Amino acid sequence: MQAVEIERIGEYAGTEVLLKGWVYNVHSSGKIFFLLVRDGTGLMQCIVERSSAGEELFDKAASLTQESSIEIRGTIREDKRAPGGYEMSVTGLSVIQIAENYPITPKEHGTDFLMDKRHLWLRGQRQHAIMRIRAGLIRFIREYFDNRGFVCMDTPIFTPNACEGTTTLFETDYFGDKAYLTQSGQLYNEATAAAFRKVYCFGPTFRAEKSKTRRHLIEFWMVEPEVAFAGLDDIMSLAEGLVVEIVGRALESYRALLVDVLERDVTKLENVRAPFPRLSYDDAAALLKKKGAAFETGSDFGGTDETMISDEFDRPVFVHRFPAAIKAFYMQPDPDDARLSLSVDLLASEGYGEIIGGGQRIHDLALLERRIAEAGLPEKAFQWYLDLRRYGTFPHAGFGLGVERTLSYVCGLQHVRETIPFPRLINRLTP
Ligand code: 4AD
Ligand code: MG
Repeated sequence: MQAVEIERIGEYAGTEVLLKGWVYNVHSSGKIFFLLVRDGTGLMQCIVERSSAGEELFDKAASLTQESSIEIRGTIREDKRAPGGYEMSVTGLSVIQIAENYPITPKEHGTDFLMDKRHLWLRGQRQHAIMRIRAGLIRFIREYFDNRGFVCMDTPIFTPNACEGTTTLFETDYFGDKAYLTQSGQLYNEATAAAFRKVYCFGPTFRAEKSKTRRHLIEFWMVEPEVAFAGLDDIMSLAEGLVVEIVGRALESYRALLVDVLERDVTKLENVRAPFPRLSYDDAAALLKKKGAAFETGSDFGGTDETMISDEFDRPVFVHRFPAAIKAFYMQPDPDDARLSLSVDLLASEGYGEIIGGGQRIHDLALLERRIAEAGLPEKAFQWYLDLRRYGTFPHAGFGLGVERTLSYVCGLQHVRETIPFPRLINRLTP
């Protein structure tokens, strides 16, 4: 008999099927065993009754421990009260392995303990829900760009130079030379944008950040579109469309997981509609002052500043035109005020902070050479990047959206560490 998957069990109501999976939970009422079985696609209540199943089957069920691997056979019937809406009356059971004493029990464990057991914790219902939504979010992001004629260009992970500043580079030995793990695919995408006009890269990026906040990972995934002949307003609209679409599709596809498993207040997400407010840095700074924040104009926003700004609005908010001094070397100056840059951050609501950073890039050769020198970056490593300004330079803009921060916001999580299967944090490299 071919094993079926719990996710599609509704198609088998009234018939006898085989499931392969693991025991999620067992309890008994003396004459009945209730096995909650998971198979990776869902959970299913399987009932073993002493009277109908017979002694041998009943004793086998009694020997099962949490996470034992099994093949189980039985008749499916609809039951509104059961998790998933269906139930199995068990007619046969074969044990693949009786699991050893499983370390994660339904009782409360500390997060550090669970993180040490991350390889097992992923089997839990809550983590399962988060990862399912993560996979969906990644699909929605790709489809947003694919459906708009963007070409996916994978950029390298080993790089000879910095993109987002030299203080957070991971250095490695590259056959006797120095190489760095990429912080962003942007610089390479500026080259591919000149070849393909609208591109995006989507991959892991690395920041040796000594930050121990709930928003920082050492290794995280970023999608980065780059568009030839686009300016700041164009990419704000592109970013707005992306966030509206992926949040909307997440609500459509994963409402039950969000509400029932993660207990997310989805009314907050239902507000995520265009247009998002667009606030200049100066206006955002004035707003912080008015609200009595200990914020100094000219500096970057801290986490609490971002929360104070976004709390003024019922949906994500753009902050644009940051001082050039606090942004990366490649930011195009504002033609109306050279002190400012054509940069933008998108702040999510409910204290989730910045989920997108981007802007328009310098396309003037002399200016870019000057900025690279001022930033103390090695000119030689940037020659290919400067070539893009030598051979048909073009105004262009783009942004990066962090998958984990966005997922954390969509799921309403306390910390980004639960948004990636195996998080890399300042104090964690295992498992
Ligand atoms: O603002 P960032 O540093 O921008 C760039 O890297 C640009 N080169 C992107 C571009 O224009 N192509 O990072 C972009 C986003 C942030 O808004 C945030 O969502 C995420 O990447 N991010 C992090 N996520 C988790 N942990 C970290 N340490 C992160 N650093 C940035
Ligand atoms: Mg940023």
